[in-house]
This record gives sequence, C-alpha cells and structure tokens, in this order.
Amino acid sequence: MRKTWILASAALALVACEQDDGMTSDLPDGKRLYTENCAACHGAKGQGDGELAQHLFKPPADLTALSESNGGEFPRNYVISTMDGFVRGEHVGGAMPEFGEKLAGRTVIMQTGDGIGTPTPAPLVALADYLESIQAK
Ligand code: HEC
Repeated sequence: MRKTWILASAALALVACEQDDGMTSDLPDGKRLYTENCAACHGAKGQGDGELAQHLFKPPADLTALSESNGGEFPRNYVISTMDGFVRGEHVGGAMPEFGEKLAGRTVIMQTGDGIGTPTPAPLVALADYLESIQAK
C-alpha cells in the first residue's frame, strides 16, 4: 500500500514538472546545451580554447570575459542575439554558426532590463544563464 502511494506521488511530481508555466524555473540544462553546442569552439570552460578553435579563421571569443568587457555587467541581450544570429557585431565573419533555429522551441519570458518581458526560446535563456554563471569577474 505504501509503495503505491510513493509511486503515485512520484507520478504526480512528474506531471507537475512537465507543465509549462512559462516561468524561467523549468529551463533546460544550460551547461549540457553549452557542452553539446558550444564547447567545440569556445572550450570546455568557455575560454575560447576548444579543439576546433585552431581551425577557424577567427578565434572564438573567451566567454568568461563577457561581463568584464561590458563594464562588469553581463551583456545578456547581446549574448542571446549573438546565439540567435539576429544581431552580430560588424566584425563577425560568419565563423560562428547561428543557433536560432536549432535551439528554438518553447519560449519563456525573459526580463531584458527595461522592465519589458520578451518571449525568448528557453534553450537560449538557459545558455545565457549558464554563461552568466561562468563569468570570471
Ligand atoms: C564553429 C565554432 C563556434 C561554435 C560552435 C560556437 N561559437 Fe560562439 N563564436 C565563435 C567565434 C569564432 C566567435 C568570434 C566572433 C566572431 O564570429 O566574429 C564567437 C563569438 C561568440 C560570442 C560573442 C562574444 C563577444 O565577445 O563578442 C558569443 C556570446 C558566443 N560566441 C556564444 C556562443 C554560444 C553560446 C555557442 C553555443 C550555442 C557558440 N558560441 C558556439 C565560434 C563558435
């Protein structure tokens, strides 16, 4: 009898997790997304030293220095746009692939700092969160 209860509550918990409440609390695993999609170029720790780096005509950026080069503030919108391929610095020579389509999917509302929430694909938000967590400064 007891076992059944435990199973039943486990099942309920699962159902609860799968519910899409549009909050950023149920994001995919940003670290895993990073390892799968970015580490080959940007390196396991984001320092721009992935194994593909030496074959690129342009060195991948050190992603742990994003905040530092932005006056100490994590440039979240810029990071999201860069991944998405929507906005790129004029120096971008196409060395980095666009992930907009590959990492699209369910959107969550992301606060962009101007008080306006912007619907953003959850994988991109998860990746930005992960990158923010590995900033050197
Ligand atoms: C094929 C190699 C490659 C892959 C894979 C790649 N990047 Fe890049 N990335 C680059 C290169 C090269 C640059 C340098 C900027 C350029 O293209 O001019 C760059 C630049 C960036 C920048 C801008 C940094 C800055 O200081 O302006 C961000 C942010 C970034 N990448 C994030 C990511 C994320 C997140 C992923 C995975 C979803 C990823 N990149 C996957 C090669 C790659």
